[in-house]
Amino acid sequence: MKPVTPHAQLDWDDQGLPRSRVFDDVYFSDLSGLDETRYVFLEQNALRERFAALPDGGRLVIGETGFGTGLNFLCAWQLFEQHAVAGARLHFVSVEKYPLSAPDLQRALALWPELRTFSDQLLAQYVAIHPGFQRLVLDHGRVTLTLLIGDALEQLPQLDAQVDAWFLDGFAPAKNPDMWTAELFAELARLAAPGSTISTFTSTGWVRRLLNAAGFKMKRTPGIGHKWEILRGTFLGWPEATPAPATAKPWFARPAPLTGERHALVIGAGLAGCATAASLAARGWQVSLLERHAALAQEASGNPQGVLYLKLSAHGTALSQLIVSGFGYTRRVLEHLHRGVDWDSCGVLQLAFNAKEAERQAQLAQAFTEDLLHSLDKDQAEARAGIELPSGGLFYPEGGWVHPPALCQWQAAHPHIRILLHHDVLELRRADDHWQAWDGEKLLADAPVVVLAGAAEIKRFPYSSELPLKRIRGQITRLPQTIESQALNTVVCAEGYVAPARLGEHTLGASFDFNNEDLTPTAAEHAGNLQMLEEISPDLVTRLRVDTLHPETLEGRAAFRCTSPDYLPIVGPLADAEAFVDAYSALSKDARQIPDIPCPWLDGLHVNSGHGSRGLITAPVSGELLAAWLEGEPLPLPRSVAEACHPNRFVLRRLIRGKA
Ligand SMILES: Cc1cc2nc3c(=O)[nH]c(=O)nc-3n(C[C@H](O)[C@H](O)[C@H](O)COP(=O)(O)OP(=O)(O)OC[C@H]3O[C@@H](n4cnc5c(N)ncnc54)[C@H](O)[C@@H]3O)c2cc1C
Ligand SMILES: C[S@@+](CC[C@H](N)C(=O)[O-])C[C@H]1O[C@@H](n2cnc3c(N)ncnc32)[C@H](O)[C@@H]1O
Repeated sequence: MKPVTPHAQLDWDDQGLPRSRVFDDVYFSDLSGLDETRYVFLEQNALRERFAALPDGGRLVIGETGFGTGLNFLCAWQLFEQHAVAGARLHFVSVEKYPLSAPDLQRALALWPELRTFSDQLLAQYVAIHPGFQRLVLDHGRVTLTLLIGDALEQLPQLDAQVDAWFLDGFAPAKNPDMWTAELFAELARLAAPGSTISTFTSTGWVRRLLNAAGFKMKRTPGIGHKWEILRGTFLGWPEATPAPATAKPWFARPAPLTGERHALVIGAGLAGCATAASLAARGWQVSLLERHAALAQEASGNPQGVLYLKLSAHGTALSQLIVSGFGYTRRVLEHLHRGVDWDSCGVLQLAFNAKEAERQAQLAQAFTEDLLHSLDKDQAEARAGIELPSGGLFYPEGGWVHPPALCQWQAAHPHIRILLHHDVLELRRADDHWQAWDGEKLLADAPVVVLAGAAEIKRFPYSSELPLKRIRGQITRLPQTIESQALNTVVCAEGYVAPARLGEHTLGASFDFNNEDLTPTAAEHAGNLQMLEEISPDLVTRLRVDTLHPETLEGRAAFRCTSPDYLPIVGPLADAEAFVDAYSALSKDARQIPDIPCPWLDGLHVNSGHGSRGLITAPVSGELLAAWLEGEPLPLPRSVAEACHPNRFVLRRLIRGKA
């Protein structure tokens, strides 16, 4: 069944205030939404004092049920801005089943001109908000918003976070009892940091009793506006009578937080390394970004155009969830770059080029919402693409192309990132709680943390040599734009892809070669790419005057993709493989065992690799994931997705299959 339209259905009253049609309730008080928010949520959670007390590098995590118009978020951000020191950070996590459409959000937020500095930034980043986890980075990383789009009871169990203050704002309990259940409150308790506080606008007795039963000590307190009384409370701890929630398995648990110097070496300056560097720098880390070449993005991330194409599954797999979250995240980062040169949101059309693909597309069109993807028949597809096509297909209106080096450069431009070019790290050594990067007898750099972001080259280090990464050569062809090819309006994909021109050239890609280790472009692969173009559109072949071009003289470039056996990237902390096998040998006999043995982490060693043929979508959000592992922050992805990408998964599987 096609998901119902995901957006909130609003009515606007005669004062211009939004009201939910589904819940027949208001988003905020008609007397003064601002005063109510400040009183009920900011004051009752003592946020002014708590923001003021945050140290440099400190962080406060707020969780909310019901993001709505984002008014609570914006008020919290404003208060944070007024009272927290420059080096502190605010992390806001909010769950929302029916996100407002961007125009509705704009209309609602226009009600609060005094919040304009903040709402303008939110609106600028409010793009590609699709189901699942969607991370927005605001104010250069000082404020992070993680929206969990979906039903609270489906999303919150997937959250890995320690929440310092809860805002309960899910419409009135009588109108929306689903947001006030014991099951949901147990999730809030599971996620509560020690001493977490909580508040809500309601004083309904059964809500108070259920919250008390979940471990929150609730108190009635005088209300504001129409509200006679409201509730506030503190988390006392998981109630003894209730079975404790399951904790993460030790091999996927968070390593102990690092203390001391926040300095990381990031080895490799492609999309993965630059994203990691950016996410760490935004959190106040010093980053030394080591790259063996003379510039950033010289290998897989060096193509003139890559496609933002979502290869989804209708079955909600970890990969599919990662793709929807990663796509949203990348799209929002791209909003900072120069449209037309660095990227373009021209849309991506995936042709239904055979019956099997048409069937797959029909399933996807059922499983995802219209604004993410929808089917076009042949006429509609041709009208979109501006050229003649052999079939219709699936259109991704927010997709497009990216010049990956521009994305790398933007991410690496932070003043905390020191770019060290011509630095080829041949060896890693551990000395005095530091990781040292060596080139022969030359010490290149050292820091307590190292992130291996060198694609398949990370296998050169003994610590990561067993990660099952494979290189797959790929070649793109550059085709000069013609007057006739200017008609191409969107990226069009079949087995290959072709993009509207960037700076006078179309990129046509890409070949797959599992055996060739040589990166010199070959005429045979140019010919193969042209064959794929023929399948995409004979009309475009004519428009590009391909008959006048010779594969021997065509320009292009080749690079290696780096893939893992399950096609998921490898992102997170790494354990010592041998010690891991010793520690958890019991699993080889019984895979259900969970030995109570801490994971033998390689302290401070992390990986961000294996981005295959979709690094534009997976690498940027992986930078956030890595930073979240390192900082003990809310994860930007569902726990199960973070585990599916965890570096320890391979040694664990080998152990369980008795092959380690
Ligand atoms: C032909 C082709 C077409 C593609 N098309 C698309 C597409 O349309 N859309 C999409 O999303 N993705 C596409 N991809 C995939 C995408 O390009 C990759 O997933 C992404 O670039 C991977 O980024 P990375 O940083 O992991 O690797 P890389 O870009 O390869 O970066 C690794 C960097 O590490 C450096 N390095 C390695 N070891 C060391 C060391 N020891 N010391 C110092 N430096 C080191 C390397 O020099 C390199 O710069 C394509 C890939 C290819 C090859
Ligand atoms: C009162 S509004 C929130 C107001 C908001 N905090 C603000 O600052 O504007 C309640 C929100 O909860 C959302 N909601 C209702 N039921 C939900 C559910 N089961 N899961 C997630 N969100 C839900 C609604 O769509 C609505 O946006």
